[in-house]
Amino acid sequence: QNTANPAPVRPVDEVYTEFVRAGSGRQSEEWVRLIREMAAHGPIADLGRNRFAVIGFDEVDEALKNPEILMIDFEHQQRFLEDVPDSVSVRAFADTMLMQNPPNHTRMRKVFRRAFTPRRLNLLRDSIEAIVDRALDALPEKTGPDGTVDLVDNFTYRIPIQVISDLIGIPEADRPRVEADAELFIKATELGDGDDGERRRLADEGTERLQEYFRGFIATRRAEPAEDLASEAIANSDAMEDPLTENEMTSNFLLLYFAGFFTTVHLIGNGIVHGDRERHWMPLVASGGTVADGYVGETLRAWPSILFTARRVADPVELGGTTLPADSDLVVMTSVANRDPAVYPDPDLFDPYRDHGRVLTFGGGAHFCIGAALAKMEARVALSKLWERHPDMRLSGEPELAQVPGVIGYNRLPARL
Ligand code: HEM
Repeated sequence: QNTANPAPVRPVDEVYTEFVRAGSGRQSEEWVRLIREMAAHGPIADLGRNRFAVIGFDEVDEALKNPEILMIDFEHQQRFLEDVPDSVSVRAFADTMLMQNPPNHTRMRKVFRRAFTPRRLNLLRDSIEAIVDRALDALPEKTGPDGTVDLVDNFTYRIPIQVISDLIGIPEADRPRVEADAELFIKATELGDGDDGERRRLADEGTERLQEYFRGFIATRRAEPAEDLASEAIANSDAMEDPLTENEMTSNFLLLYFAGFFTTVHLIGNGIVHGDRERHWMPLVASGGTVADGYVGETLRAWPSILFTARRVADPVELGGTTLPADSDLVVMTSVANRDPAVYPDPDLFDPYRDHGRVLTFGGGAHFCIGAALAKMEARVALSKLWERHPDMRLSGEPELAQVPGVIGYNRLPARL
């Protein structure tokens, strides 16, 4: 570091606001500069009003693993995201495992965790390959008169949504309506300049229909189990002394459905965008092997689709030498920790050959992402098959950002094959 001429340090709340809102969303030098600015306030920064940003790698890792640091529950989420009004779509996730603390979290998670067996993942591998091949086969006919095709609509979006539907076991005939309602929900998470009230109303209606759909679906699978994760999760729950309530079951299916697809859409998209910039990786990823896994790992580290998560502190707790007071909220900056030079030397270099064992993009501790292995498998197959089939592919025109706070991702990636 050049200590003779240090860069001016802006107040942390200014950097934080930019980081969470306008600063997120794109792979760029500006974003990397924001990461550095945020890191300069580490390892823990006081954001005022009993909010703290956890920034250093060790502190982030510990915040995720320390059982005294709690998951935000619904009530806290409302306080924390003060500009997000209460709505059916926000409330729909209140009863999911993501917002519970032990022992309730443990009770819910084991119902689903046990259904994510390596055997089921191995069976999915073949179907992921077939889904990717079909999406690639269809690309030429989706190409417009200007010679470009949108790789989000026709590729990155298509893969995870079909994989998660196959995994859960949603019948083919029901998928168009489930997907249409899910899209209404996703649209409402974006910072648009349109009518927010109208988008939220549509999202709420869509969410209600999805809840209704999953209630019916669960009842059908309970009566007639099939070879899918839904049937297994229902059986796991029914075998417990305190089975999940109907509402808990429905909410967790909704969580699985959403958590399983938009994050992975952006992982694949972020991999494509980086590959277009450093094109020498494309043939290496196309040839498969460990470098393809490393490429996905490095995309997760350097351009993570999720930039941070949140926690709360009920009783005072010490973290990285700072005592966090009772009733404080934490923003846990996993994306900043992923570029901590103490753990990742030369952090801004994109290097698929690094050790990705400690990358924090899937979280850590009790809530570590259930779908991490699946998401990585999908991205690896998608990127290697895309670049094997289209080695000269180039992005063309302006990519459109997914304007979701806390997310790096793209809604449109026009390309020439
Ligand atoms: C939890 C990220 C893909 C299902 C999480 C968490 C993160 C995360 C950060 C923990 C949140 C926290 O502790 O605050 C991602 C990313 C993905 C991805 C970046 C893709 C690139 C998936 C997939 C599925 C999935 C494919 C399902 C098939 C879940 C579930 C939880 C979770 C159910 C809640 C676990 C719990 O609370 O115990 N994910 N995820 N995710 N993820 Fe993922």
